[in-house]
Amino acid sequence: MSSPKDSQAASIIDIVKQAKNVLSQNSLDDLVIPAQGLYPHRVLWDSCFAAIGLSHYDVKKAQLQINSFLEAQWSNGMIPHIIFNPQPKYWWDRHIWRSKISPLSKHAIATSGITQPPMFAEAVVRIGERLNESQRNSWYEQIFSRLVAYHSWLYSERNPEGRGLITLIHPWETGLDNTPPWLVSLRHHHAPWWINMITWLKLDKVADHFRFDARYVDPSERSTTYEALRLYDALRKIRRNKYDSKKIMPKSTFAIEDIVFNSIFIRANSLLKEIAAIINQELPEELLKNIALTETNFKEFWDKEDDKYYSRNQKYGNFLKEDSIGSLMPLYSGVISESRAKQLYERLINKDDFNTPYPLPSVPISSPWFKPMRYWQGPSWININWLLIDGLKRYGFIEEARILSNKSIAMVRDNGFYEYFNPQSGEPAGVVNFSWTAALIIDLVSQMHPELID
Ligand code: GLC
Repeated sequence: MSSPKDSQAASIIDIVKQAKNVLSQNSLDDLVIPAQGLYPHRVLWDSCFAAIGLSHYDVKKAQLQINSFLEAQWSNGMIPHIIFNPQPKYWWDRHIWRSKISPLSKHAIATSGITQPPMFAEAVVRIGERLNESQRNSWYEQIFSRLVAYHSWLYSERNPEGRGLITLIHPWETGLDNTPPWLVSLRHHHAPWWINMITWLKLDKVADHFRFDARYVDPSERSTTYEALRLYDALRKIRRNKYDSKKIMPKSTFAIEDIVFNSIFIRANSLLKEIAAIINQELPEELLKNIALTETNFKEFWDKEDDKYYSRNQKYGNFLKEDSIGSLMPLYSGVISESRAKQLYERLINKDDFNTPYPLPSVPISSPWFKPMRYWQGPSWININWLLIDGLKRYGFIEEARILSNKSIAMVRDNGFYEYFNPQSGEPAGVVNFSWTAALIIDLVSQMHPELID
């Protein structure tokens, strides 16, 4: 007779098997897309998360996800957030961005003209951990100068005041597209007359029927049409400036020092330093100076009035005080003090704040913005859980990290590999068979039960 322990092991083996299937179904020539249908193109942080999952059982395929993005790196060092599917039927998606208009883009590879949270260094190191010493060194040597170029680009193009805090120019760069602090900025965005007309005439409900994403998911679980049109208009404005950040930033409504992006960047910088040390390489002096500045000035994200971390408007210096999961992300950065980390941990376990039955909500339940099924305005996302589990561990909150891992695995086991989940009921939402959900579940399982992963 099998014991409860055996059946738990069987169900864990089964979930890993299913997760591997999701990743293989979402592979086109071994390159992983976020999901069939809704997301046919490759996306930067999605590919990094996919690589982290793949590294446990197919290191070569994991490396391919990273290398293929490096092939698309622009000559100024930027790694674009989308590499478009070359199939003829996607010509319109490629045409919307027209990356070729920038002399800095790789003309043979159609990409977007903006970036996304810099998860690259983390994925490179996680792959490195799965290699023997000499393979790992040659992997790091192969990647090193490209990674340095990417981090240096963020400082040279997105650091207008030289304080080392990175400024984003479009909500898509945060990865948390319609998170409340960015939504407020989106509302201030000066939209053209035709978008305003659609809004005044309340035609957005009609437009819902023509939305591409509505073919795959319920529009009530996504950005509204009104938001989507403004996001599109913001893209037109940066495209008009050929994706030249220095031209775009002074005019942009979106010039935001984003807390999520900067927290991830700080961690990426420490990992880059580790990579350099392992292969006995020096980082450029200018880059080291900037890295130190980011660490020192990160404290500017702390609002003494509310005792919270917030993103900041780069032009006016004000905090974007709408609460969101971004406020906890400094736990992942690793540079905040232990007492600050404890304050964030307290929020994470507080039932009126972020502690829901199916954690972690992307907006605290006490917030007037909270909508449990709408995209980044409430649902739980596995990549956010993964980042915070990692941060919790590094600050010594081992038990909480274990609980959050178990709850994340159970949420996916019971509901499927969805894009996001209702944090109160666990009900799945968004698109099904989503790659980063699958990949990061493989990683979480392997951290908790290494003996069950082959
Ligand atoms: C959505 C998410 C973004 C993700 C993309 C592809 O736009 O907000 O973070 O990268 O989908 O999965």
